[in-house]
Amino acid sequence: MAKIFVDTAKIEEIEEAAAWGIVDGVTTNPTLMFRAGTANRKQRTLEIVEVVRGSVSAEVISTEAEGMIEEAKEILSWSEHVYVKIPTTDEGLKAMHVISQWPNGRINATLIFSANQAFLAAKAGADYASIFVGRLDDAGLDGMAVVRQTRRIFDTYGLGCQVLAASIRHPRHVLEALLAGADIITMPFPVLKKMVGSPFTDIGLQKFLADWHKIAAQ
Ligand code: E4P
Repeated sequence: MAKIFVDTAKIEEIEEAAAWGIVDGVTTNPTLMFRAGTANRKQRTLEIVEVVRGSVSAEVISTEAEGMIEEAKEILSWSEHVYVKIPTTDEGLKAMHVISQWPNGRINATLIFSANQAFLAAKAGADYASIFVGRLDDAGLDGMAVVRQTRRIFDTYGLGCQVLAASIRHPRHVLEALLAGADIITMPFPVLKKMVGSPFTDIGLQKFLADWHKIAAQ
């Protein structure tokens, strides 16, 4: 079953989505922490874990492997639900290689813009390969093609890394990611809300209620 993650650090959004019973996890990054108005990464991550009890990703700030490894040690000690997000750079690959040897080395390889990067992240031991579909589309490229290519490569070579479609902008991205075989799709809460809503559902409901009231009044 494909998993749904919410791409936010806002507790109220996570609580509402979790109440629908469809949330498997949450992804955060420094920008999302900024938008949620918190600089306390640990506290916010643990608050999110309390709500979802699923996979929760928190990102490192360091750009050198040594610093990433130090941060990962701390981040992964917060909770068994936490995955550490490591940027997919050469330094990031070095860090992934070390962290993946740890018994608690849960890694979300982030900032992936090509199937080659996803392949390298999987080889270095990442558990998730986060492909930034929307940012590729914004640049005039085909983000979903990278998801399809990565799926095919991971399947062909039996790589256990999960394909995570990230940087999702609208419900059509979600549909296409599902059809492309993504294991996980992380989306902003407004996209999740748009997936539920349909004017036809609203019109249908109004008609049912109007007819019910007519017959009930007889
Ligand atoms: C998720 O892990 C990513 O950080 C996120 O999807 C990035 O999305 P954006 O391109 O909307 O910032």
